[in-house]
Amino acid sequence: MTESKFTPRVFSGIQPSGNLHLGNYLGALKRFVDMQGPDMETVYCMVDLHAITVWQDPKELMHSTRELCAGFIAAGINPEQSILFNQSQVPEHAQLAWIFNCVARMGWMQRMTQWKDKAGKNQQNASLGLFAYPSLMAADILVYHATHVPVGEDQKQHLELTRDIAIKFNNDFGVDFFPITEPVIEGAATRVMSLRDGSKKMSKSDASDMSRINMTDDAETIAKKIRKAKTDPDALPSEVEGLEERLEARNLVNIYSALSDQTPEQVLAEVGGKQFGEFKPMLADLAVAKLSPISSEMARLMNDQAEIDRILARGAERARQITVPILRQTYEIVGMVGAGQN
Ligand code: AMP
Ligand code: TRP
Repeated sequence: MTESKFTPRVFSGIQPSGNLHLGNYLGALKRFVDMQGPDMETVYCMVDLHAITVWQDPKELMHSTRELCAGFIAAGINPEQSILFNQSQVPEHAQLAWIFNCVARMGWMQRMTQWKDKAGKNQQNASLGLFAYPSLMAADILVYHATHVPVGEDQKQHLELTRDIAIKFNNDFGVDFFPITEPVIEGAATRVMSLRDGSKKMSKSDASDMSRINMTDDAETIAKKIRKAKTDPDALPSEVEGLEERLEARNLVNIYSALSDQTPEQVLAEVGGKQFGEFKPMLADLAVAKLSPISSEMARLMNDQAEIDRILARGAERARQITVPILRQTYEIVGMVGAGQN
Protein backbone atom coordinates (compact mmCIF):
# COMPACT_ATOMS: atom_id res chain seq x y z
CA MET A 1 0.00 0.00 0.00
CA THR A 2 1.26 3.47 -0.76
CA GLU A 3 1.13 6.33 1.74
CA SER A 4 -1.37 4.63 3.94
CA LYS A 5 -3.69 6.38 6.33
CA PHE A 6 -4.24 2.99 7.95
CA THR A 7 -2.27 1.96 11.02
CA PRO A 8 -0.49 -1.33 10.49
CA ARG A 9 -2.54 -4.21 11.84
CA VAL A 10 -2.12 -7.96 11.33
CA PHE A 11 -5.06 -10.32 10.94
CA SER A 12 -5.09 -14.02 10.21
CA GLY A 13 -7.30 -17.03 10.78
CA ILE A 14 -7.20 -20.82 10.92
CA GLN A 15 -10.17 -23.17 10.57
CA PRO A 16 -11.01 -25.36 13.56
CA SER A 17 -11.66 -28.39 11.40
CA GLY A 18 -9.55 -31.36 12.39
CA ASN A 19 -6.01 -31.41 13.66
CA LEU A 20 -3.38 -28.74 13.29
CA HIS A 21 -0.52 -30.08 11.20
CA LEU A 22 3.06 -29.09 10.44
CA GLY A 23 1.95 -27.09 7.36
CA ASN A 24 -0.36 -24.95 9.51
CA TYR A 25 2.40 -24.51 12.05
CA LEU A 26 5.21 -23.52 9.68
CA GLY A 27 3.08 -21.73 7.06
CA ALA A 28 0.90 -19.86 9.53
CA LEU A 29 1.11 -20.22 13.32
CA LYS A 30 4.86 -19.88 13.73
CA ARG A 31 4.78 -16.79 11.58
CA PHE A 32 1.88 -15.34 13.57
CA VAL A 33 4.11 -15.65 16.61
CA ASP A 34 7.01 -13.95 14.81
CA MET A 35 4.78 -10.99 13.92
CA GLN A 36 3.74 -10.34 17.52
CA GLY A 37 5.57 -7.33 18.77
CA PRO A 38 5.34 -3.76 19.85
CA ASP A 39 5.10 -2.35 16.30
CA MET A 40 1.90 -4.00 15.16
CA GLU A 41 -1.42 -4.92 16.63
CA THR A 42 -2.05 -8.63 15.97
CA VAL A 43 -5.50 -10.20 15.68
CA TYR A 44 -5.81 -13.99 15.35
CA CYS A 45 -9.02 -15.87 14.85
CA MET A 46 -10.38 -19.40 14.93
CA VAL A 47 -12.71 -19.21 11.95
CA ASP A 48 -15.56 -21.50 13.02
CA LEU A 49 -17.99 -19.91 10.54
CA HIS A 50 -15.63 -20.91 7.73
CA ALA A 51 -15.33 -24.44 9.08
CA ILE A 52 -19.07 -25.12 8.72
CA THR A 53 -19.00 -24.48 4.97
CA VAL A 54 -18.47 -28.25 4.98
CA TRP A 55 -20.26 -30.47 7.50
CA GLN A 56 -18.86 -30.42 11.05
CA ASP A 57 -20.10 -32.49 13.93
CA PRO A 58 -21.13 -29.90 16.57
CA LYS A 59 -19.29 -31.57 19.46
CA GLU A 60 -16.14 -32.01 17.42
CA LEU A 61 -16.31 -28.41 16.24
CA MET A 62 -16.35 -27.18 19.83
CA HIS A 63 -13.47 -29.47 20.70
CA SER A 64 -11.42 -28.41 17.66
CA THR A 65 -12.03 -24.73 18.37
CA ARG A 66 -10.75 -25.05 21.93
CA GLU A 67 -7.86 -27.24 20.85
CA LEU A 68 -6.89 -24.73 18.18
CA CYS A 69 -6.94 -21.99 20.81
CA ALA A 70 -4.66 -24.13 22.96
CA GLY A 71 -2.44 -24.59 19.89
CA PHE A 72 -2.14 -20.84 19.32
CA ILE A 73 -1.13 -20.25 22.92
CA ALA A 74 1.19 -23.26 23.12
CA ALA A 75 2.96 -22.09 19.95
CA GLY A 76 3.64 -18.71 21.54
CA ILE A 77 0.68 -16.42 20.95
CA ASN A 78 0.22 -14.32 24.06
CA PRO A 79 -3.51 -13.68 24.52
CA GLU A 80 -2.78 -10.56 26.56
CA GLN A 81 -0.89 -9.07 23.67
CA SER A 82 -2.65 -10.46 20.59
CA ILE A 83 -6.42 -10.44 20.24
CA LEU A 84 -7.37 -14.14 20.15
CA PHE A 85 -10.96 -15.30 19.68
CA ASN A 86 -13.38 -17.42 17.67
CA GLN A 87 -15.12 -15.79 14.73
CA SER A 88 -18.75 -16.54 15.68
CA GLN A 89 -18.44 -14.47 18.86
CA VAL A 90 -17.85 -11.36 16.77
CA PRO A 91 -21.02 -10.98 14.66
CA GLU A 92 -19.62 -8.10 12.58
CA HIS A 93 -17.64 -10.62 10.48
CA ALA A 94 -20.83 -12.19 9.13
CA GLN A 95 -22.57 -8.82 8.82
CA LEU A 96 -19.79 -7.32 6.71
CA ALA A 97 -19.64 -10.54 4.67
CA TRP A 98 -23.23 -9.91 3.59
CA ILE A 99 -22.33 -6.45 2.30
CA PHE A 100 -19.38 -8.00 0.46
CA ASN A 101 -21.66 -10.66 -1.04
CA CYS A 102 -23.34 -7.73 -2.72
CA VAL A 103 -20.03 -6.24 -3.89
CA ALA A 104 -18.24 -9.36 -5.16
CA ARG A 105 -19.28 -10.85 -8.50
CA MET A 106 -20.26 -14.46 -9.22
CA GLY A 107 -17.47 -14.73 -11.78
CA TRP A 108 -14.83 -13.81 -9.17
CA MET A 109 -15.96 -16.62 -6.91
CA GLN A 110 -16.19 -19.13 -9.73
CA ARG A 111 -12.52 -18.60 -10.51
CA MET A 112 -11.33 -19.57 -7.02
CA THR A 113 -9.23 -22.71 -7.23
CA GLN A 114 -10.07 -23.70 -3.65
CA TRP A 115 -13.78 -23.64 -4.57
CA LYS A 116 -13.10 -25.78 -7.62
CA ASP A 117 -10.97 -28.24 -5.62
CA LYS A 118 -13.32 -28.53 -2.67
CA ALA A 119 -16.60 -28.62 -4.58
CA GLY A 120 -15.07 -30.95 -7.17
CA LYS A 121 -17.43 -32.41 -9.73
CA ASN A 122 -20.38 -31.96 -7.43
CA GLN A 123 -20.75 -28.17 -7.40
CA GLN A 124 -24.55 -28.33 -7.43
CA ASN A 125 -24.48 -30.10 -4.13
CA ALA A 126 -21.86 -27.93 -2.38
CA SER A 127 -23.11 -25.46 0.21
CA LEU A 128 -23.76 -21.86 -0.80
CA GLY A 129 -21.45 -20.96 2.09
CA LEU A 130 -18.55 -22.81 0.48
CA PHE A 131 -19.02 -20.72 -2.66
CA ALA A 132 -19.25 -17.44 -0.72
CA TYR A 133 -16.36 -18.38 1.60
CA PRO A 134 -13.86 -15.85 0.15
CA SER A 135 -16.29 -13.02 0.78
CA LEU A 136 -16.43 -13.94 4.48
CA MET A 137 -12.63 -14.14 4.49
CA ALA A 138 -12.42 -10.62 3.02
CA ALA A 139 -14.81 -9.45 5.75
CA ASP A 140 -12.64 -11.09 8.46
CA ILE A 141 -9.71 -9.02 7.31
CA LEU A 142 -11.37 -5.76 6.37
CA VAL A 143 -13.63 -5.47 9.43
CA TYR A 144 -10.34 -4.74 11.25
CA HIS A 145 -8.93 -2.55 8.47
CA ALA A 146 -6.06 -5.03 8.64
CA THR A 147 -3.09 -4.16 6.48
CA HIS A 148 -1.02 -7.36 6.71
CA VAL A 149 -2.18 -10.95 6.46
CA PRO A 150 0.29 -13.79 7.08
CA VAL A 151 -0.84 -17.00 5.35
CA GLY A 152 0.47 -20.01 3.46
CA GLU A 153 0.80 -19.92 -0.31
CA ASP A 154 -2.58 -21.65 -0.85
CA GLN A 155 -4.40 -18.52 0.35
CA LYS A 156 -2.83 -16.12 -2.14
CA GLN A 157 -5.78 -16.09 -4.51
CA HIS A 158 -8.22 -15.36 -1.66
CA LEU A 159 -6.10 -12.39 -0.63
CA GLU A 160 -6.11 -11.04 -4.16
CA LEU A 161 -9.89 -11.29 -4.08
CA THR A 162 -9.92 -9.41 -0.77
CA ARG A 163 -8.05 -6.58 -2.49
CA ASP A 164 -10.52 -6.64 -5.39
CA ILE A 165 -13.44 -6.39 -2.99
CA ALA A 166 -11.85 -3.47 -1.11
CA ILE A 167 -11.11 -1.66 -4.39
CA LYS A 168 -14.60 -2.20 -5.78
CA PHE A 169 -16.26 -1.10 -2.54
CA ASN A 170 -14.13 2.05 -2.38
CA ASN A 171 -14.88 2.81 -6.05
CA ASP A 172 -18.59 2.05 -5.93
CA PHE A 173 -19.13 4.36 -2.98
CA GLY A 174 -16.45 6.94 -3.82
CA VAL A 175 -14.60 6.48 -0.54
CA ASP A 176 -11.13 5.49 0.65
CA PHE A 177 -12.47 3.37 3.46
CA PHE A 178 -11.02 -0.13 3.17
CA PRO A 179 -7.25 -0.63 2.98
CA ILE A 180 -5.66 -2.61 0.18
CA THR A 181 -4.26 -5.49 2.18
CA GLU A 182 -0.76 -6.93 1.80
CA PRO A 183 -0.42 -10.70 1.82
CA VAL A 184 2.61 -11.83 3.85
CA ILE A 185 3.68 -15.15 2.33
CA GLU A 186 7.25 -15.56 3.47
CA GLY A 187 9.82 -18.07 4.64
CA ALA A 188 10.97 -21.51 3.59
CA ALA A 189 7.71 -23.28 4.39
CA THR A 190 4.88 -21.34 2.74
CA ARG A 191 3.85 -24.60 1.10
CA VAL A 192 4.70 -27.70 3.12
CA MET A 193 4.13 -30.79 0.97
CA SER A 194 2.78 -34.23 1.81
CA LEU A 195 5.39 -36.65 3.19
CA ARG A 196 4.07 -39.31 0.78
CA ASP A 197 3.87 -37.21 -2.40
CA GLY A 198 5.97 -34.10 -2.96
CA SER A 199 3.53 -32.71 -5.51
CA LYS A 200 0.60 -32.49 -3.07
CA LYS A 201 0.35 -30.06 -0.18
CA MET A 202 0.25 -31.38 3.37
CA SER A 203 -3.39 -31.17 4.36
CA LYS A 204 -5.92 -32.07 7.03
CA SER A 205 -8.06 -33.81 4.48
CA ASP A 206 -5.46 -36.25 3.08
CA ALA A 207 -6.72 -39.79 3.65
CA SER A 208 -3.28 -40.99 4.78
CA ASP A 209 -2.19 -39.90 8.24
CA MET A 210 1.38 -40.79 7.21
CA SER A 211 1.27 -37.83 4.78
CA ARG A 212 1.30 -35.24 7.56
CA ILE A 213 2.74 -34.54 10.98
CA ASN A 214 -0.01 -33.53 13.40
CA MET A 215 0.80 -31.14 16.21
CA THR A 216 -0.61 -33.73 18.60
CA ASP A 217 1.62 -36.61 17.36
CA ASP A 218 4.00 -38.05 19.96
CA ALA A 219 7.76 -38.20 19.46
CA GLU A 220 7.74 -41.78 18.25
CA THR A 221 5.04 -41.11 15.65
CA ILE A 222 6.85 -38.03 14.36
CA ALA A 223 10.09 -39.99 14.01
CA LYS A 224 8.32 -42.86 12.24
CA LYS A 225 6.57 -40.55 9.76
CA ILE A 226 9.84 -38.85 8.87
CA ARG A 227 11.70 -42.17 8.58
CA LYS A 228 9.04 -43.40 6.15
CA ALA A 229 8.77 -40.13 4.22
CA LYS A 230 9.18 -40.60 0.47
CA THR A 231 12.62 -39.61 -0.86
CA ASP A 232 14.93 -40.42 -3.75
CA PRO A 233 18.13 -42.47 -3.63
CA ASP A 234 20.58 -39.57 -4.17
CA ALA A 235 22.60 -37.69 -1.59
CA LEU A 236 21.55 -34.15 -0.68
CA PRO A 237 23.03 -31.43 -2.90
CA SER A 238 25.11 -28.56 -1.55
CA GLU A 239 23.23 -25.88 -3.49
CA VAL A 240 19.48 -25.16 -3.68
CA GLU A 241 19.53 -25.46 -7.48
CA GLY A 242 20.15 -29.16 -6.95
CA LEU A 243 16.70 -29.50 -5.36
CA GLU A 244 14.75 -28.18 -8.33
CA GLU A 245 13.60 -31.49 -9.76
CA ARG A 246 13.57 -33.26 -6.40
CA LEU A 247 10.21 -32.40 -4.83
CA GLU A 248 10.45 -34.67 -1.79
CA ALA A 249 14.05 -33.74 -0.99
CA ARG A 250 13.22 -30.08 -1.32
CA ASN A 251 10.26 -30.42 1.00
CA LEU A 252 12.33 -32.06 3.76
CA VAL A 253 15.05 -29.43 3.44
CA ASN A 254 12.46 -26.65 3.60
CA ILE A 255 10.91 -28.18 6.70
CA TYR A 256 14.33 -28.44 8.32
CA SER A 257 15.13 -24.88 7.44
CA ALA A 258 11.81 -23.47 8.74
CA LEU A 259 12.08 -25.45 11.98
CA SER A 260 15.66 -24.32 12.56
CA ASP A 261 15.12 -20.69 11.46
CA GLN A 262 17.74 -20.98 8.75
CA THR A 263 17.61 -20.45 5.01
CA PRO A 264 17.68 -23.56 2.78
CA GLU A 265 21.13 -22.39 1.63
CA GLN A 266 22.41 -22.48 5.20
CA VAL A 267 20.91 -25.92 5.74
CA LEU A 268 22.49 -27.32 2.58
CA ALA A 269 25.85 -25.87 3.55
CA GLU A 270 25.58 -28.09 6.62
CA VAL A 271 23.99 -31.24 5.22
CA GLY A 272 24.98 -31.22 1.51
CA GLY A 273 26.48 -34.61 0.57
CA LYS A 274 24.64 -36.54 3.28
CA GLN A 275 22.36 -39.46 2.46
CA PHE A 276 18.76 -39.48 3.66
CA GLY A 277 19.67 -42.28 6.07
CA GLU A 278 21.67 -39.66 7.95
CA PHE A 279 19.53 -36.58 7.29
CA LYS A 280 16.17 -38.07 8.29
CA PRO A 281 17.19 -38.78 11.91
CA MET A 282 18.53 -35.20 12.16
CA LEU A 283 15.22 -33.88 10.89
CA ALA A 284 13.25 -36.17 13.21
CA ASP A 285 15.25 -35.00 16.24
CA LEU A 286 14.75 -31.38 15.29
CA ALA A 287 11.01 -31.81 14.67
CA VAL A 288 10.54 -33.61 17.99
CA ALA A 289 12.55 -30.96 19.85
CA LYS A 290 10.45 -28.15 18.38
CA LEU A 291 7.02 -29.79 18.36
CA SER A 292 6.89 -31.88 21.55
CA PRO A 293 6.91 -28.91 23.93
CA ILE A 294 4.03 -27.42 21.93
CA SER A 295 1.94 -30.59 21.99
CA SER A 296 2.48 -31.17 25.70
CA GLU A 297 1.56 -27.55 26.44
CA MET A 298 -1.57 -27.96 24.29
CA ALA A 299 -2.58 -31.01 26.31
CA ARG A 300 -1.97 -29.13 29.56
CA LEU A 301 -4.08 -26.16 28.44
CA MET A 302 -6.89 -28.46 27.33
CA ASN A 303 -7.26 -29.59 30.95
CA ASP A 304 -8.76 -26.22 31.79
CA GLN A 305 -11.43 -25.57 29.18
CA ALA A 306 -13.13 -22.91 31.29
CA GLU A 307 -9.95 -20.87 31.07
CA ILE A 308 -9.82 -21.32 27.28
CA ASP A 309 -13.43 -20.17 27.01
CA ARG A 310 -12.64 -17.12 29.13
CA ILE A 311 -9.70 -16.24 26.89
CA LEU A 312 -11.89 -16.51 23.78
CA ALA A 313 -14.69 -14.42 25.30
CA ARG A 314 -12.23 -11.75 26.39
CA GLY A 315 -10.60 -11.75 22.94
CA ALA A 316 -14.01 -11.34 21.30
CA GLU A 317 -14.80 -8.40 23.54
CA ARG A 318 -11.54 -6.70 22.56
CA ALA A 319 -12.13 -7.52 18.89
CA ARG A 320 -15.57 -5.88 18.96
CA GLN A 321 -14.06 -2.61 20.10
CA ILE A 322 -12.56 -2.51 16.62
CA THR A 323 -15.28 -4.15 14.54
CA VAL A 324 -18.40 -2.38 15.85
CA PRO A 325 -17.33 1.12 14.76
CA ILE A 326 -15.98 -0.11 11.41
CA LEU A 327 -19.22 -1.94 10.62
CA ARG A 328 -21.26 1.10 11.66
CA GLN A 329 -19.29 3.33 9.32
CA THR A 330 -19.72 0.78 6.53
CA TYR A 331 -23.49 0.79 7.04
CA GLU A 332 -23.50 4.59 6.92
CA ILE A 333 -21.53 4.57 3.67
CA VAL A 334 -23.92 2.03 2.16
CA GLY A 335 -27.00 4.00 3.27
CA MET A 336 -28.56 2.03 6.08
CA VAL A 337 -30.96 4.14 8.16
CA GLY A 338 -30.13 4.15 11.85
CA ALA A 339 -26.46 3.25 11.40
CA GLY A 340 -25.36 6.60 12.76
CA GLN A 341 -27.22 6.20 16.05
CA ASN A 342 -26.20 2.88 17.56
P1 AMP B 1 -6.49 -23.98 7.18
O1 AMP B 1 -6.11 -25.17 7.96
O2 AMP B 1 -6.90 -24.31 5.78
O3 AMP B 1 -7.43 -23.08 7.89
O4 AMP B 1 -5.15 -23.15 7.00
C1 AMP B 1 -4.65 -22.30 7.99
C2 AMP B 1 -3.36 -21.65 7.57
O5 AMP B 1 -2.35 -22.65 7.35
C3 AMP B 1 -3.46 -20.86 6.26
O6 AMP B 1 -2.67 -19.69 6.38
C4 AMP B 1 -2.86 -21.80 5.24
O7 AMP B 1 -2.30 -21.11 4.15
C5 AMP B 1 -1.79 -22.49 6.07
N1 AMP B 1 -1.48 -23.82 5.51
C6 AMP B 1 -2.33 -24.87 5.39
N2 AMP B 1 -1.71 -25.93 4.83
C7 AMP B 1 -0.43 -25.54 4.59
C8 AMP B 1 0.72 -26.18 4.02
N3 AMP B 1 0.68 -27.44 3.60
N4 AMP B 1 1.87 -25.46 3.94
C9 AMP B 1 1.93 -24.18 4.38
N5 AMP B 1 0.89 -23.52 4.91
C10 AMP B 1 -0.28 -24.18 5.02
N1 TRP C 1 -9.24 -19.35 4.33
C1 TRP C 1 -8.20 -19.59 5.29
C2 TRP C 1 -7.74 -21.06 5.17
O1 TRP C 1 -8.50 -21.93 4.83
C3 TRP C 1 -8.63 -19.31 6.70
C4 TRP C 1 -9.06 -17.89 6.86
C5 TRP C 1 -10.34 -17.44 7.01
C6 TRP C 1 -8.23 -16.74 6.85
N2 TRP C 1 -10.34 -16.09 7.14
C7 TRP C 1 -9.08 -15.63 7.05
C8 TRP C 1 -6.85 -16.55 6.71
C9 TRP C 1 -8.59 -14.32 7.06
C10 TRP C 1 -6.37 -15.22 6.73
C11 TRP C 1 -7.23 -14.14 6.90
O2 TRP C 1 -6.63 -21.33 5.43
